Amino acid sequence: MTSADDLRSLPADFVWGTATSAYQIEGAVAEGGRSPSIWDTFSHTPGRIDADDNGDVACDHYHRWREDLALMRELGTDAYRFSVAWPRVVPGADGVVNAEGLAFYDRLVDGLCEAGITPHLTLYHWDLPQAQQDRGGWPERATAERFAEYAAVVGEKLGDRVKDWCTLNEPLCSAWIGHLEGRMAPGLTDLAAAVRASYHLHLGHGLATQALRATVPGARVGIVNNLSPIVPASDRPEDIEAARRADGHTNRWWLDPVFGRGYPQDMLDLYGVELPVREGDLELIGAPLDWLGVNFYFRQVVEADPAGPAPYARQVPVEGAPTTYMDWEVHAQSLEDILLRVTREYGPERLYVTENGSAYVDTVAPDGSVSDPERTRYLEEHLAACARAVAGGAPLAGYFAWSLLDNFEWAYGYDKRFGLVHVDYATQKRTVKGSGRRYAELIAGHRGRGRKAA
Ligand code: FCB
Repeated sequence: MTSADDLRSLPADFVWGTATSAYQIEGAVAEGGRSPSIWDTFSHTPGRIDADDNGDVACDHYHRWREDLALMRELGTDAYRFSVAWPRVVPGADGVVNAEGLAFYDRLVDGLCEAGITPHLTLYHWDLPQAQQDRGGWPERATAERFAEYAAVVGEKLGDRVKDWCTLNEPLCSAWIGHLEGRMAPGLTDLAAAVRASYHLHLGHGLATQALRATVPGARVGIVNNLSPIVPASDRPEDIEAARRADGHTNRWWLDPVFGRGYPQDMLDLYGVELPVREGDLELIGAPLDWLGVNFYFRQVVEADPAGPAPYARQVPVEGAPTTYMDWEVHAQSLEDILLRVTREYGPERLYVTENGSAYVDTVAPDGSVSDPERTRYLEEHLAACARAVAGGAPLAGYFAWSLLDNFEWAYGYDKRFGLVHVDYATQKRTVKGSGRRYAELIAGHRGRGRKAA
């Protein structure tokens, strides 16, 4: 069992947080002037989501945010990573700002500040206004420009209290899963559209970074990528090559440009899609980051898959390895590995683990409690991996558990629960799980050590 002692290499001011995203928890999709996003459209398309679930109600956080804030206090966290829903703030294609939508986040931020919890705000966690999609969405340059305008609006309203800003969450999922694999909104399977989307997501990041730095004094701006160590399934040359391609597709394509290195040539050759680069774009995209967020869920063991799609590499299961209810392999060592690799190869100023967590089948005991030893163990092992990464030189400044609450897990619907807090969707009752209590203990223990050392 991981103890506070195993975490002693984490800095004394380590940030302990939880993470959520707007569409996964808010509900109230037709309230307060919000317009539909691509996820409303996608989730209301029959067959796209397990059990045809959707985010119409989700955790009803839009109405219950005070209760959720109290849960954060109960866990003893000092930061909260949440996302703003673009379709609440700028619902239409005309750029008109919806004051009621902004007011919701204004209240939330005030509530966080009063509770002593630092807001870490993500501007885009996949919920593009459908009105922008109707004009072409991320494959079009105009979407990046609209995104920066929206960023400035949020910056102006909340920038006096919010200093930690994330432009995009996991642009890989928006581009590759949303436009190439079709498993996420907008549900396309078009390589050229996917590559263009990836480029305009990056451009949107660059333009929004510039807008935030102009509107928010002292802004600390970063981007969140989901990264995975890639391991060839065998020592066959074709699997080794497949692993190199998968690494380009999953890691280097998303890191090189935002660290000012442009796009990896091997991947440009592989995709064979010309990027619509204009003068000055790559400098904007590569503007220095204040921090990089790493979302870590699994490593990928891959073999060659000539039938595709790009990158012609297929993830294969690891025989005998423990897996979560998502069928994702549990391999905490990979978190240490990826943090150290990023440190070595890219030299980030500061790192956060902006998401990490696990889905398991939870049951509510007759006494109302939820015991989740597997999730607790997963949490402990991954925190220990973070501590080892820090000991090895990674500038890791904080950890955000995914997730505060069970929520709408995209194409998997409500069946996959990642929360430290259980949500009974019939009654909206929240119950802190055993893993949540353990997280609170580890946080308190680490703070206690810090005080002793001081
Ligand atoms: C990440 C997403 C997050 C959540 C977790 C399980 O890819 O950023 O919203 O769904 O996976």
